[in-house]
Amino acid sequence: MYVTILGRQPALGIAELERVFGGNNVTPLSNLAATVDTDRLEIQDLGGALKAGVVIIDITSGDWHKVNKKIVQHYTQEWAAFEGKITLGLSAYGFDVDPRDVQKIGIILKQKLKKAGVSLRLVPNQDTALSTATSHHNKLGLASNKVELLIVRAKDGKIIIAESTGAQNITAYTKRDQERPKRDAFVGMLPPKLAQIMINLAHPAPHARILDPFCGTGVILQEAALQGYGVYGTDLSEKMVRYSRENLNWLADTHHLRFDFDLHEGDAMNTTWQQPVDAVVAETYLGQPFSAPPSPAKLEEVRKNCNHILTEFLKNLAPQIESGTPVCIAIPAWRSKEGNFTHLPLIATIAQLGFKPHEFRNISQNDLLYFREDQVVARELLTLTKI
Ligand SMILES: C[S@@+](CC[C@H](N)C(=O)[O-])C[C@H]1O[C@@H](n2cnc3c(N)ncnc32)[C@H](O)[C@@H]1O
Repeated sequence: MYVTILGRQPALGIAELERVFGGNNVTPLSNLAATVDTDRLEIQDLGGALKAGVVIIDITSGDWHKVNKKIVQHYTQEWAAFEGKITLGLSAYGFDVDPRDVQKIGIILKQKLKKAGVSLRLVPNQDTALSTATSHHNKLGLASNKVELLIVRAKDGKIIIAESTGAQNITAYTKRDQERPKRDAFVGMLPPKLAQIMINLAHPAPHARILDPFCGTGVILQEAALQGYGVYGTDLSEKMVRYSRENLNWLADTHHLRFDFDLHEGDAMNTTWQQPVDAVVAETYLGQPFSAPPSPAKLEEVRKNCNHILTEFLKNLAPQIESGTPVCIAIPAWRSKEGNFTHLPLIATIAQLGFKPHEFRNISQNDLLYFREDQVVARELLTLTKI
């Protein structure tokens, strides 16, 4: 059994886990964490989980005092004969405690182990939980002597203590995002993490050939190639096709990867794609960017235009892919000052267009919105299957 620590938008992380591991195997503990019933979980395969760990201790109910006692008891024994120096990080989620209370567990453990001749270095807690960056830079969870304990309190009071198996590799994400040769602020900057979540939401079969018909600078194609999929991108703009090509060549060179890719210009509303297309993952046309909510008339104009382009795209796509083909597309939804969303009308007619939405066990489609507080245009993630 694993526990995962969820990112800024927990519903996206839960949805991703459900698709990858099956809805019945995922149990949300709170907005911060979920357990996954599986024998194998690689944090690097997930975009929506910040940390993951193997569950070691399960406490049905109790308080921080009990946590303290259990950890000290368990690890004084476990490490009594440890050869070499242990680095320990402690992260608590869902507890109303002070970072010093968290650190205190480590200090007691350090004193006890010292008596047994075992040396322990404690990673300092600025907060009750170590940041992903701190866990990643200290390589916690990546070797037997670099341990991070994830101490998670569920909404129902249950407590889980897990040994981390690693944190998100933020260095690698930043490199893929910022060091690629071609970026374009106008077409938008899809974060690689979100691209990875979208690919996992489609959940293509291993080695499937993934089509992105709005490929832009190729972030989705890059992430798909890294996960071992075949990649195929098209875009209305010749410049974007060129950018994707350069970025994919850069990825192959810098990451010593060998993969085939196809790219060509095409209007998603009428182009004919080359077969096979085993899955479709795309951040579609999102309309013009806004720095402040537009007037109702302007919003209606943009919404109508996006709805037209994306409806025509889905009508063109449906007869070109086989029944059962998974599709994950990001479409625009506009956020008002009050935090309400205006959605695209096509969502209500998705079945008529030949697609059925995936039903998640723990979340609803309305939760699958990706945005930052300062953004007007949110990305709504539709997870579909061709009927
Ligand atoms: C939001 S951007 C996608 C950015 C992309 N995820 C990336 O990694 O850069 C949308 C893309 O759709 C393209 N586009 C707009 N209308 C299109 C259409 N009718 N057919 C195909 N591509 C279109 C634009 O050129 C743009 O590159």
